[in-house]
Amino acid sequence: MSHASYPHIRLRRTRAAAWSRAMVAETTLSPANLIWPLFVTEGQQVEAPVATLPGVSRWSVDRIVDKAREARDLGIPCVALFPNTPPGLRSIGGEEALNPGNLMCRATSAIRDAVPEVGILTDVALDPYTAHGHDGLIDDQGRVLNDATMEVLVKQALVLARAGASIIAPSDMMDGRVGAIRGALEADGHHDVQIMAYAAKYASAFYGPFRDAVGSGGLLKGDKRGYQMDPANAEEALREVALDLAEGADTVMVKPGLPYLDIVRRVKERFEVPVFAYQVSGEYAMIEAAAAAGAGDRDALVLETLLAFRRAGCSGVLTYHAAHAARLLRA
Ligand code: PBG
Repeated sequence: MSHASYPHIRLRRTRAAAWSRAMVAETTLSPANLIWPLFVTEGQQVEAPVATLPGVSRWSVDRIVDKAREARDLGIPCVALFPNTPPGLRSIGGEEALNPGNLMCRATSAIRDAVPEVGILTDVALDPYTAHGHDGLIDDQGRVLNDATMEVLVKQALVLARAGASIIAPSDMMDGRVGAIRGALEADGHHDVQIMAYAAKYASAFYGPFRDAVGSGGLLKGDKRGYQMDPANAEEALREVALDLAEGADTVMVKPGLPYLDIVRRVKERFEVPVFAYQVSGEYAMIEAAAAAGAGDRDALVLETLLAFRRAGCSGVLTYHAAHAARLLRA
């Protein structure tokens, strides 16, 4: 086959001009592919910067509504809310998670009323509410209890759904929680509330700045390896996804993001369902640090990493760069 190679074939031909690159691009990135995580804090007219996440702040409920409007105006379909619970409301059992007047519920219903066009994703896990920083209830040896935690998570999910959450996102990694939450949502009449399962969530070193932002980092005793996944494992991620889908998850998430794109790809190919990834706080901080150090162009790093998620098979990405990226994409 003498014609099957150079110079008859020059892959550079289709790369030579911008119009041609646009025509053959296999992957697209738009604001519709972004979910914007936002941190909520007490008070009025408060913007409290997060030291380890330059450019990210915690917002009081009144200001979070402005952020949701900003998302809508930028074409970002959904925001994800996380609370910085005041220290005095954290407890061994995390009871504040079940208070229908807690920060999350107030932020959710304020956005639901003011900006009904935007989806609201709410995390289900106890770490922003517990005095020990774990995602669940612990026994006297400090081990996180699965079944007892699940009962609380079900109640937490109902409280959030009643406040107006569009997507319940269990991030706790307890076994069986998706099925239990789905059953409770159905029984309570929330037939259209989605579940996005943090299906493959790894015990990762990339969550540090997030724990600062929600105020749980300094509290955490030990680590989360007894419930979050071992970064060594991929087959186990497929089992997690299979179970969460069977239990009634609408969509699944892989977390962290960029170092785990192999998992995204395998999940997408195996299950053919919408897959999301969370470009987590440590990943955001690394891009910001690289840009600040002059090691790379911030805007280019942001858009390239987000495109990589799409190429790997993601329907969308949770990213703290969402608003910035949406502005770049609309420019
Ligand atoms: C808590 C939760 C975490 C994140 C999202 N939900 C932290 C953790 O599991 O310790 C991390 C997000 C990020 O790092 O940006 N269940």
